[in-house]
Amino acid sequence: MILITGAGGQLARRIVAHLRTAGAQVVPGSRNPAEGGRRLDFDLPETIDLTDVSTLVLVSAGYAEDDIVTQRHASVIEAARRHGVKHVVYTSLVGAGDHLAFALAHRATERLLRDSGLSWTILRNGLYAELIGGLLAWEQGVLVSPFNNGRVAAPTREDLAVAAARVAIRAEDHVGRVYELTGVPFSTADIAAELGVEVLGLSLGEYRDRLLSSPDLLPFQPPMLAGIASSVRHDFLGQHGPDLEVLLGRTPAPGLPVAARTARAALPANRAQDGAARSLGG
Ligand SMILES: NC(=O)c1ccc[n+]([C@@H]2O[C@H](COP(=O)([O-])OP(=O)(O)OC[C@H]3O[C@@H](n4cnc5c(N)ncnc54)[C@H](OP(=O)(O)O)[C@@H]3O)[C@@H](O)[C@H]2O)c1
Repeated sequence: MILITGAGGQLARRIVAHLRTAGAQVVPGSRNPAEGGRRLDFDLPETIDLTDVSTLVLVSAGYAEDDIVTQRHASVIEAARRHGVKHVVYTSLVGAGDHLAFALAHRATERLLRDSGLSWTILRNGLYAELIGGLLAWEQGVLVSPFNNGRVAAPTREDLAVAAARVAIRAEDHVGRVYELTGVPFSTADIAAELGVEVLGLSLGEYRDRLLSSPDLLPFQPPMLAGIASSVRHDFLGQHGPDLEVLLGRTPAPGLPVAARTARAALPANRAQDGAARSLGG
């Protein structure tokens, strides 16, 4: 049986759906499980029941300080050993993301897995196209970007989910493998061209000031997001490799339209026409 953690999340939900479509025996695990799922809260190790699980898809549980994230993953890996799980597939971060603040918790987890004695596969996911589009903002119909001319080889969440499902189904073919999962690179200028709008570029200082004045962000998030912007604008995340295509058995879907759709969805409704008018010189 294959158990997917974090099944309430956007990536894991898609992995579960693809596994079900493929006819695999799947159990979703989540802090808030749907019917037929198991309750798994990594912050409560006693809830991590992996009985009868042969392959575990450990979807990273980020959105916290490194020590918390690493402890969450350590608890799951320990439970996997205890319950005799045969293989663990871990959704990590692309190697080119080593400059990013949250790389540390991923690399620490990879090390725990390698040292665990378990059989494993590491899927180093590129930054989602959805994330890149979602980090752009709007001001009077103009796209606001901290990325300058940097390009990002961002795959779609959907393709990453398909790849994870394919690996989980044939885990024995992927033992000890580390895959760097990237998509076709694109820039903010490409997104703006796709949407037919202009771009207002922010310096890193301007971007950080905006992040620090945002009431919605947790304390660790402004440095994390400023780090993403710095890595993109210095072209550390633009490299595109073959691994995703190999796992999918087809060309990856382009991230650009997905990033553009995500960015456009954040455009305030009353500004949509304004943006289009500006782009046409109106
Ligand atoms: N590559 C990228 O661009 C990128 C971007 C954002 C995040 N990520 C990482 O990739 C993961 C999956 O992305 P996503 O888009 O699916 O994120 P998402 O939709 O925001 O989902 C968050 C995930 O974290 C899990 N989680 C949080 N706290 C947990 C806990 N205490 N115990 C168990 N699970 C916990 C949630 O599981 P339940 O709610 O089901 O319990 C859910 O799967 C994220 O958690 C994050 O580590 C990657």
